[in-house]
Amino acid sequence: METTFEKMAEHCKPTVEHPLAIVLGSGLGALAGRVRVVRHIPYSDIEGFPAEAIPVAGHRYEVLVGEIDDVPVVVYPGRIHMYQGYDALEVTSLVRHAHKLGCRSIMLSCASGAVRDVEPGTVGLITDQVNLTGRNPLASAEGAAAAELEAPFVPMAGAYSSYLSDLARDAAAEVGVELAEGTYVGLLGPTYETAAEIRMLASFEADYVGMSTVCETIMARALGMEVLGLTLVTNKAGRADNNHAEVLEAANAAAEATQNIALGVVRRLAQS
Ligand code: 6GU
Repeated sequence: METTFEKMAEHCKPTVEHPLAIVLGSGLGALAGRVRVVRHIPYSDIEGFPAEAIPVAGHRYEVLVGEIDDVPVVVYPGRIHMYQGYDALEVTSLVRHAHKLGCRSIMLSCASGAVRDVEPGTVGLITDQVNLTGRNPLASAEGAAAAELEAPFVPMAGAYSSYLSDLARDAAAEVGVELAEGTYVGLLGPTYETAAEIRMLASFEADYVGMSTVCETIMARALGMEVLGLTLVTNKAGRADNNHAEVLEAANAAAEATQNIALGVVRRLAQS
């Protein structure tokens, strides 16, 4: 056990050659402001990222290469979604880009709806996932090649790193934030779920539901990267009045807690 742990620590430790990749979802956006940026990379330089998704003047569409508290990071302040019409390969182009830059670990963050008894405003550690998007970035010759795989049969058990998850638990305890834990179900969207869909997901013992992350995790695992998943629970899923404004408002309200956990993970990675 200890040797596995030591090996993982060595593997995950961000260095100049192997920075930590961070994808900022709703609620974690302000983390971009904590980066001491040494290089901006326009999203137009990301192979496979759709050019039409990049607004003319959008600073969210620049990759930030630099440091957070002396820890080398590569931060992606914006992502695209399959519900916008992009395919699973396009939405995972950020992950391949991070891998090409040398990242061996990736922190994925997102907003989600609560399926069962999680309260809105809660920060959740994603310990496992169910991919119900109907898409998979490896399900084409192009996808397998993009992940440098001869065979696309990537095991997904244990997809979320227990090592990185422990760092998140420690970080949350230190900043006094209660960290929920559970399974994230990824759906295609863009519609929010019906009450019946949420009952179905609850019967699967799902905890969070959202429209991102699952394909990114698949691509990261295919590339051999360690994955940490953090989700900001913004609303109760399956209600008639679910709406995007509510999601953004709750994301902003709990943003600081999420950010503090993320910062704690970054610091711990540097010391591990
Ligand atoms: Cl309720 N559902 C989905 N699919 N994604 C969400 C959400 C709900 N709340 C935030 N993101």
